[in-house]
Amino acid sequence: PGESKEARTAFENMKADAAAEGIYLNAFSTYRSYWSQNTLYNNYVANYGQDPTDTFSAKAGFSEHQTGLAMDLTTSSTTLGTFESTKEFKWMKENCYKYGFILRYPEGKEWITGYMHESWHFRYIGTEHSKNFENNDLTLEEYLGI
Ligand code: DAL
Ligand code: ZN
Repeated sequence: PGESKEARTAFENMKADAAAEGIYLNAFSTYRSYWSQNTLYNNYVANYGQDPTDTFSAKAGFSEHQTGLAMDLTTSSTTLGTFESTKEFKWMKENCYKYGFILRYPEGKEWITGYMHESWHFRYIGTEHSKNFENNDLTLEEYLGI
C-alpha cells in the first residue's frame, strides 16, 4: 500500500508542464490508509451527520484514496472547496487526460458516481484509458460498464 509510483510520476510531469504555463498544482491529499480514511469519515459524520457525509466521503474500505491512485488538488492559495473557480481547475479539465488522470466525480453525474461533484478529486487511470475522458463528462462507472 501507499501512493502509486506511476501516478506520482505522471503527476510530477503534469505539474512541471503546468508550472511552465503559470499553473500551480499541489497534491494536497493522495494515499490514505484504511485508518486515516476511517478517521476522516467519522469526523465528517460527527460534524455533518451520516447522510450528508455519504454524499462526499467514502466509508473506510471504499475510498479510491486507499488505492494510491487518487489525488485531491489545491493551488497555493485555495482550499479544496474553492478549487473549482481557479485557473488550475480549468487547466486540469483541458489537460489532465493527457497525463492519465480523470476528473472522477463530474458535475451532473452524481447519480452515477454516488458522490457530489468534486472539482479537486482526480484519479490516475493511465493515458491509454484517460484519452477517452477528454470532455470530462464520462464517468469511470460508465466507461467500465458498471
Ligand atoms: N471524497 C471521496 C468520495 C472519497 O472519500 O474517496
Ligand atoms: Zn478525493
